[in-house]
Amino acid sequence: MTNVLVIKANNRPDDISTKMYEKFVEEATINTNLNVTTFDVFEENMSHYGQDLFNAFGKLQTGEELNEREAASLAAQQKAQKAISNADVLVFAFPLWKLTIPSALQSFIDYNLQAGFTFKYNEQGQKEFLLSGKKVILLNARGGFYNTPEMDAMEMSMNYMRAVIKNYFGFEIIDEVIVEGHAQDPKNAPTIIAEGLEKVKETAAKL
Ligand SMILES: Cc1cc2nc3c(=O)[nH]c(=O)nc-3n(C[C@H](O)[C@H](O)[C@H](O)COP(=O)(O)O)c2cc1C
Repeated sequence: MTNVLVIKANNRPDDISTKMYEKFVEEATINTNLNVTTFDVFEENMSHYGQDLFNAFGKLQTGEELNEREAASLAAQQKAQKAISNADVLVFAFPLWKLTIPSALQSFIDYNLQAGFTFKYNEQGQKEFLLSGKKVILLNARGGFYNTPEMDAMEMSMNYMRAVIKNYFGFEIIDEVIVEGHAQDPKNAPTIIAEGLEKVKETAAKL
């Protein structure tokens, strides 16, 4: 049985990356060899990553009692890290919002991107991955076209996710589906979206 964790990172019900998420789950659940679960980053109680968590780490060392915010931040991190640890395949379904990833997905990444969890530096100062062997599929939607060098340089969702996953999680990206241009080119939007969803279906069927 392959554990597939689908990270849903859009809470707009009719939006394209939500449809990509739904299409992926619909197709993947047909395969009885896959155990498909969802981690909905907008439904999780993930506070912003910051001092509450660092205070919690400190208090764990000294045995002091954690306040409510510190306990919540620590619990959010433990849940996010457990979700990743248990998965064989991680599927991220996310939009490009304001040139980057939604902040709820950023929190999920922040809670996982940590020296000592996904990687460590060895005595020679080289990075070693601690959770390697996991595979990743990226499903992304963006309303504009980013297929020129100038536009690509402004795109900080796919570029960011690829950088983190390859270089700090040490996971292999086995597939990517990007639906793009449906806002910039509304005339062709139905075709762009239909073709993208078909690619999502094919991606899920390959697992
Ligand atoms: C809050 C918000 C911010 C967005 N920012 C961008 C953007 O920076 N660049 C872009 O090409 N499209 C942007 N879009 C359009 C979305 O990328 C487009 O609707 C795409 O389908 C992904 O979002 P969706 O899955 O929520 O529809 C934005 C949409 C929303 C709702």
